[in-house]
Amino acid sequence: MRVDDLSLHAGGRELQHGLTFDVRAGEVLAICGASGCGKSTLLRHMIGLQTPRQGRVTWVAGGRERDVHGDDPPRREIGVAFQAGALWSSMTVGENVMLPLELHTDLGEVARERQARFKLALAGLPDAATFDAEPASLSGGMRKRAAIARALVLDPPLLCLDEPSAGLDPLTSARLDDLIQRLKTDLGTAIVLVTHELDSLFAVADRLLFLDVEAHTATALGPPAELRDHGPEAVSEFLTRGGLDRRQAA
Ligand SMILES: Nc1ncnc2c1ncn2[C@@H]1O[C@H](COP(=O)(O)OP(=O)(O)OP(=O)(O)O)[C@@H](O)[C@H]1O
Ligand SMILES: [Mg+2]
Repeated sequence: MRVDDLSLHAGGRELQHGLTFDVRAGEVLAICGASGCGKSTLLRHMIGLQTPRQGRVTWVAGGRERDVHGDDPPRREIGVAFQAGALWSSMTVGENVMLPLELHTDLGEVARERQARFKLALAGLPDAATFDAEPASLSGGMRKRAAIARALVLDPPLLCLDEPSAGLDPLTSARLDDLIQRLKTDLGTAIVLVTHELDSLFAVADRLLFLDVEAHTATALGPPAELRDHGPEAVSEFLTRGGLDRRQAA
């Protein structure tokens, strides 16, 4: 995916401008920055849910380029799990996960169910009862994982995850990091990961895009360890919890 000179606006304000970067095939790209800098808004633009006033988002694959906001958007190529989970409350968890298969494939019911159960297990919800449960009866962390299962169900080449580990216990969160690693290495899935979790970031991200809340633009793009040691001050502060890690180490 290519993002070119993109501006983000919300409520009449400019959040970010001049965002230019690629998401490379099979990489994990983390998007970081202070709360309110526009990370979730950027994701909504990248998946075509929000149209930019300025700039372009292009899906580049198989020698073809498609505008994400054009007539033939790459819908089934991009899986997304929103920050709040966003499952349909009128459907069971299983129906939620099967929905993209119903919309975008010719699979029969049995195959759809098998695929959905497999993806739920992959996302850390192997319990058969979860399939028929209502979203409202799940814990917050379980809802998040069900949303990830739904995002995965079509085996998309690009997966966008908005703070997937927020609110998860450390063990579940570490399992999620493992899942991200496996998707990347086994399936070659590219993953755009919005996260504040430094452990997770250093464990899985190939590159990090830092959105500065004051400069209203991206001030760094590169491997996390490199930005921690040699990046702009705001970025290395962010990556060392305001220098706390370094002071503790000293
Ligand atoms: N639909 C909207 N109408 C008005 N303001 C909005 C809208 N959506 C987002 N905003 C504002 O835009 C800013 C950026 O929001 P966004 O959710 O993208 O931030 P974020 O970086 O994802 O933050 P967080 O880390 O807290 O999730 C916030 O100030 C928010 O209040
Ligand atoms: Mg957000």
